[in-house]
Amino acid sequence: MPSAQLVDAQAVTRALAHAITAASHAPSIHNTQPWRWRAHGDHLELFLDESRTLAVTDPDLRLAILSCGAALHHALVSLAADGRHATVTRLPDKAETTHLATVCVDARIPVEASAVRHLETIALRHTDRRPVQSAAIDAQKLGSIAAAAESQNTSLHVLRPRQLFDLVAATDHAQTIESEDEAWQAEMNHWTGDDHTLGTGIPDTVIARETSQTTPGREFGHPGRMAIADTHHRTAVFAILYGPGDDDLDWLRAGEALSAAWLKATELGLSVVPLSVTIEVTVTREAVRQLLSGPGHPYLVLRFGVPDGDGACPPRTPRLPAERTVEQP
Ligand SMILES: Cc1cc2nc3c(=O)[nH]c(=O)nc-3n(C[C@H](O)[C@H](O)[C@H](O)COP(=O)(O)O)c2cc1C
Repeated sequence: MPSAQLVDAQAVTRALAHAITAASHAPSIHNTQPWRWRAHGDHLELFLDESRTLAVTDPDLRLAILSCGAALHHALVSLAADGRHATVTRLPDKAETTHLATVCVDARIPVEASAVRHLETIALRHTDRRPVQSAAIDAQKLGSIAAAAESQNTSLHVLRPRQLFDLVAATDHAQTIESEDEAWQAEMNHWTGDDHTLGTGIPDTVIARETSQTTPGREFGHPGRMAIADTHHRTAVFAILYGPGDDDLDWLRAGEALSAAWLKATELGLSVVPLSVTIEVTVTREAVRQLLSGPGHPYLVLRFGVPDGDGACPPRTPRLPAERTVEQP
């Protein structure tokens, strides 16, 4: 009969495998999934996979590291739902900058209902780029989403209606700068469209046929195939995820906050679209920084809305097979 110690070691191995699977559902810039996991014993190590980063769009790797932060939070949600306490060391090795976190699993903990709910929500969460319904978002819901971001040391600034004009202007400016750059066009073409069938990238089925001229959004360089009904974005709420610093650790924490806030929004029945174009261009990132009420650095713009209940939900964006994101021992 196997010893209790061996049985627990096997349960830990299974919990780590579940965590890697949960993390694979995380959102990432252009669906690059720039993470790589190494599991051994009771440890899970998270690395930035530089082969899936965007040299032109994201030269500082801020959005890649932010994406890895979202994957880290998804993994921690899974461990909590498996009844495992986890201790996280972020950026554990100053000499190895791609080593973003080490998660050490120790004692068993009681499984909270909220942890199970968050794990279920991971399977439901997705980017819904369709126009939103003309229903206002409850301020209390926005408060709960902001609290979820705060739980990860990151804040959410909800834009006032008048600030939207500045966001539209910054978005247009960023988009013009990017689309005039041939290297940017080539990179965008590489990561979008139906030819990209390797389990990464954004397929045309989730890109709208037409883009809105009046609300901030992202140009993907070509029209997609997602049919959209009427464009009534008027009740969408735009917010800035921001924090005190502008370095690797801040971007990792911002990704964890993005995951926490997005899971909460999904549980509250709201749709979310991250908008990173203004963050990608230095001059417009500064313009977005000016929209904050106090000091801080912007990490990502988010659109919240009440999702279109009538139209068919867009298909899910594909993911890499797990073995492509796990380092074999
Ligand atoms: C850091 C970051 C930046 C993103 N920027 C945009 C964006 O500007 N526009 C957009 O439509 N989606 C954006 N997304 C959403 C991704 O395209 C999406 O997460 C990815 O394609 C996977 O799809 P899913 O979220 O439906 O699982 C971003 C996501 C992250 C994490």
